[in-house]
Amino acid sequence: MAPGTTSLIRGRALVTGGSSGIGLAFARALAARGCDLTLVARNADRLAQTAEELHRTYGVDVQTLQADLAGDEGIEKVAQRLEDHADPVQVFISNAGHGIHTPLTTGQVDQHDDATALMVRSVLILGTRTAYAMRERGTGVIVNVGSVSGMLPLGGYAAIKAWVNTFSEAMSLELRGTGVQVTGLVPGWVRTEFHDRAGIRTSSIPDFLWLDAQRAVTDCLADVDKGKVESIPSKRYKLIAFFLRRAPRTLVHAISRAMMAKRGRG
Ligand SMILES: NC(=O)c1ccc[n+]([C@@H]2O[C@H](COP(=O)([O-])OP(=O)(O)OC[C@H]3O[C@@H](n4cnc5c(N)ncnc54)[C@H](OP(=O)(O)O)[C@@H]3O)[C@@H](O)[C@H]2O)c1
Repeated sequence: MAPGTTSLIRGRALVTGGSSGIGLAFARALAARGCDLTLVARNADRLAQTAEELHRTYGVDVQTLQADLAGDEGIEKVAQRLEDHADPVQVFISNAGHGIHTPLTTGQVDQHDDATALMVRSVLILGTRTAYAMRERGTGVIVNVGSVSGMLPLGGYAAIKAWVNTFSEAMSLELRGTGVQVTGLVPGWVRTEFHDRAGIRTSSIPDFLWLDAQRAVTDCLADVDKGKVESIPSKRYKLIAFFLRRAPRTLVHAISRAMMAKRGRG
């Protein structure tokens, strides 16, 4: 953040997927900065326990919203909360998501369809409606959680995250000069429940490629304060992203095929 300027990170933050992993790390970091919180997820018991623990630790107000963001009803409930000017959300962390284990060509489309609803449709609707509400107020922060995997042709999940990465960048450009800051978080592998939940085997991923969720979020919030369009936590992933964006596609395809083969072996 430039000297003499005030951080846009203040007021209430709404975090989708705020009960686990990267979302929970955002909730902790934002509460530590004094933000009140609204946490969104499907599991109501876990939401309530998380809210109680965050309130007890940081003394901030913590609301919970139980919603399935893969469905229209859940998306509408959260969108209305984001548009509420009476108790405005100043920071929106669009984070909820899950992995996809099913390859694209098995004839089974349900998991891809569900993942697209959660990580494309809900991100689109909540992001655009929030952006409009924040633009009217002339202030706000939106963080969209994409992924480095969006830079590789690695199945349906990568295709979805490529969309999130580009969507976030496009929003950021449209909102330049409005007082609303959009930053795309583009992490590499982060240790969370994500891989276990999706049944993704991780034994072939070397230790040095794993990021800590709290560290990734600290880097991201520092980048938000600097007004950055994109945040790629850690030097190693900045380097990997630099390489992937400039490498010949034939080489990127060879890397992707090797990664897919390793995943198959577990
Ligand atoms: N971990 C990684 O290596 C990694 C790397 C790059 C990007 N990401 C992205 O980071 C984001 C967070 O992932 P994570 O690693 O923190 O995973 P995680 O630990 O499994 O947390 C996922 C969170 O999303 C919520 N969620 C899942 N499906 C939902 C739905 N349909 N509606 C509402 N909430 C839902 C979960 O709560 P409920 O189950 O209670 O709903 C949970 O709070 C995702 O977008 C993921 O794609 C992760």
